[in-house]
Amino acid sequence: MKSVVQIQNVSRTYWNTRGEKVDALSGISLDVSPGELVCLLGPTGCGKTTLLRLVAGLEVPDQGSILLNQEPVTGIRPDVTLVFQQYSLFPWRTVLENVAFGQEMKGTSRAERETSARHYLALTGLSTFEKAYPHELSGGMQQRTALARALAYEPRLLLMDEPFGALDDRTRHRLQSELLEIRQRTRQTILFVTHSIDEAVFLADRIVILRDRPGLIEETISVPVPRPRDRQSKDFTNLHLEIRAILERIIEQSEIKRTLTNE
Ligand SMILES: Nc1ncnc2c1ncn2[C@@H]1O[C@H](COP(=O)(O)OP(=O)(O)OP(=O)(O)O)[C@@H](O)[C@H]1O
Ligand SMILES: [Mg+2]
Repeated sequence: MKSVVQIQNVSRTYWNTRGEKVDALSGISLDVSPGELVCLLGPTGCGKTTLLRLVAGLEVPDQGSILLNQEPVTGIRPDVTLVFQQYSLFPWRTVLENVAFGQEMKGTSRAERETSARHYLALTGLSTFEKAYPHELSGGMQQRTALARALAYEPRLLLMDEPFGALDDRTRHRLQSELLEIRQRTRQTILFVTHSIDEAVFLADRIVILRDRPGLIEETISVPVPRPRDRQSKDFTNLHLEIRAILERIIEQSEIKRTLTNE
């Protein structure tokens, strides 16, 4: 089966305000198959957001190439949605109008898009807030609205940057299960960034672990835990421990590097 996303030897360098070179990503290659859910895991600053921004066409790589459905990425595309790490809502639109936005762009009728928007607001626990404006919501509620908006749009490729990071455990678990159900129904391909090992093991078909300075792929793990996944199962907890050990090793090495370079 042809890959939906082909990331080939991609590098991205930034220059910080002190004029220092930051190798955010260095020679990353990754293929994502149709309908696959890949989680990116790694220490802060290892280039996860940068990689999503490159795939979304918001930035261009310094080296290498990114193909979506065999075509080079040349800018943002209507069939790809990025849920940002920071929620970004239209302040002048109500919650319902925010969530209905994507379908409005697709030309769906008002009645239909409001029905779909209400469905996703119910899923994210925001039904009673549909007439509210973003400034009237808490941070977690704004993030849930942004999430409902992305899901309601039903893009073919969904890029998610720590979308559940600001949520309480119960809501987070509910939305994780919901995301898996939505994927089953829509066959969406999902590239999902998280800091949570638990979240990655619960969601992913494959987990890609990145290291920082420079941002490289450390390890790729196909998750062998059968679905529906049980957090208490041996398979689950063993994989959790294995990944934790890898991440601790990466963080330790990166601290040693920082000490040696006097950062
Ligand atoms: N616009 C920019 N200018 C300069 N440096 C940048 C810029 N964007 C990112 N960086 C640097 O590139 C590296 C990767 O950043 P990125 O935001 O992709 O990391 P991340 O893995 O998403 O981190 P986090 O887990 O904290 O969100 C970091 O060292 C960051 O400081
Ligand atoms: Mg990030």
